[in-house]
Amino acid sequence: MTQEKKHSDLQNLHRLLLQMKKYWTRLCGIFLLDLLATPLALLGPLPLMLAVDNVIGSKPLPHFLSTVIPVSIADSKEFMLLIVAVLIILITLLSQLQSLGAYLFKSYIGAKIVLDIRRRLLYHAQMLSLTYHDTKGTADSIYRIQYDVMSVQNVIIYGIPSFITLSLTFAGMVFVIVQINNQIALIALSISPILILTSYFSRKKLRKGYKKVKKLESSNLSIIHEILSSIRVVKVFGQEERENNRFLMHSTLSLKKRIKLLLSESAFSLINSMSIALGTTLVLFYGVKNVQAQMLTIGQLLLVMSYLAHLYSPLKSLVKELMKVQDGFTGLERIFNLFDKKYDVIERPNALTVKQVNGNIRFQDVSFSYDGKNNVLTNLSFDTPSGSRVGIVGRTGSGKTTLTSLLMRLYDPTSGTIFLDAVDLKDLKVQQLRDQFAVVLQEPILLTGSIADNIAYAYPDATIDEIKTAATAANAHEFISGFPEGYDTLVGERGMRLSGGERQRIALARAFLKNAPILILDEPTSAVDVQTEAIIMDATNRLMKNRTTFMIAHRLSTLKSCDILLRIDNGRLIFQTTDVMTEIYS
Ligand SMILES: Nc1ncnc2c1ncn2[C@@H]1O[C@H](COP(=O)(O)OP(=O)(O)OP(=O)(O)O)[C@@H](O)[C@H]1O
Ligand SMILES: [Mg+2]
Repeated sequence: MTQEKKHSDLQNLHRLLLQMKKYWTRLCGIFLLDLLATPLALLGPLPLMLAVDNVIGSKPLPHFLSTVIPVSIADSKEFMLLIVAVLIILITLLSQLQSLGAYLFKSYIGAKIVLDIRRRLLYHAQMLSLTYHDTKGTADSIYRIQYDVMSVQNVIIYGIPSFITLSLTFAGMVFVIVQINNQIALIALSISPILILTSYFSRKKLRKGYKKVKKLESSNLSIIHEILSSIRVVKVFGQEERENNRFLMHSTLSLKKRIKLLLSESAFSLINSMSIALGTTLVLFYGVKNVQAQMLTIGQLLLVMSYLAHLYSPLKSLVKELMKVQDGFTGLERIFNLFDKKYDVIERPNALTVKQVNGNIRFQDVSFSYDGKNNVLTNLSFDTPSGSRVGIVGRTGSGKTTLTSLLMRLYDPTSGTIFLDAVDLKDLKVQQLRDQFAVVLQEPILLTGSIADNIAYAYPDATIDEIKTAATAANAHEFISGFPEGYDTLVGERGMRLSGGERQRIALARAFLKNAPILILDEPTSAVDVQTEAIIMDATNRLMKNRTTFMIAHRLSTLKSCDILLRIDNGRLIFQTTDVMTEIYS
């Protein structure tokens, strides 16, 4: 497994934005809408200043207002008070509309982006090799797709735009305060080194914490996933209590880590709030002294204090935002780590289109290992003419199923080559290659849905008559018709509402309906009684006509109709014969 690569936040963000090209205009919309918050915030304290300086006091109107308001009105205190009232309501209304609009727009675009990334990530996860899923487990991918993707929103929908607007608001406030009194501005900003330092340390600490928490939480999910999907075993062995304790132990660990993270966050917030309080006190102290020395009017002091609140509030939010996006950036890193996992089974550029398949299969010195260390198949060489029926026998664990997996390129050989009609499998388009196979797996897996859906899985356009024909051939029609809802009977998750033999026959019907040139049957009758086996084998024999078939069976008698028999032992081909009957009855 490749080591997870490290990228900086900016690299990840850049990559994300490149993937989100089609949302750029909408993201700009969000940004502009957020930007409106700045002038609205700047207008906020204006009515109060007018009330104090122009209604109660008798200072002249500020320049930008005197151009809009005629002198006759400005002279009337009543009118000015009315204007103040109207301004308050208008500014509140506008800022409410702005924040509501931004909220709705962000939620909508956020949900769309999340869905888009989820779709791509799920597709990518499906394309990854079985080796990846066998080692990593499904829950890790589920957590990344379901939860980590959510955190993308925190970065590009909430984090970045508000980061920019907050910075702009902050800059605007600094500008305004400098205009009023640059000494006050300097005092107000004297606390910024503390804020910068806390941001720096909090980012480092929180990032590490979030990484751990996410890892733990994803392993919690895998415990739940495992318990519930193996619920039958858990019940039969009466291990509910133990499983619960295992879950509790893991969850408590991640809970503790989360709380620790919250504590660090709160500590950093406390430091920030206290430094801001310090800044406010310093300005107030200085302002009062100036008012006493008559260098500042009371109105100006009130205005400065009110602007100060507006200066510090974006600053506080900025720092908070910086902490909040750490969760998002951690998630982003995990998402890209999954995106970066390379497919093991790779389609070559200019891969060949699979045309008419005859079904001649040749293994040439094929070896394979799941873990890169121990060979499961060793130097396997054989050649089966097209249309032949190949029986594979061998002790359990000898590598029979693995051999068929290599045929469909679920894995690639570690060394050696497999040819289909004299073409290396690796030269063919992967999906088209797999289309050539109809398979009945050793453990038939059904998907949630009806029996009909399951039979038609590889061929969703099949008519109900075609489905019934396939079911009849697999000796399944009878039992399906016996169900009150017939073909519409729901099979439950992974087909758990059916018996093993029923599942197997539905899987057979599915393979029959696929009508592919190469058939792989991995112990297709292991879960049915002898009588049913005979009927199924009869149908299978018909199906095998003119197709290359690989059939694995433990009962030799099942392989009577084969043309070639391969015996595998410990991953090696130890015996091969075309005189199957003699071998079976010897
Ligand atoms: N996904 C996997 N990852 C790692 N090792 C595996 C995997 N699948 C199978 N193996 C190992 O490879 C060997 C061959 O397994 P395989 O399933 O091919 O045996 P088989 O001949 O089909 O056995 P059976 O008759 O029991 O079905 C076994 O030793 C098994 O432990
Ligand atoms: Mg097997």
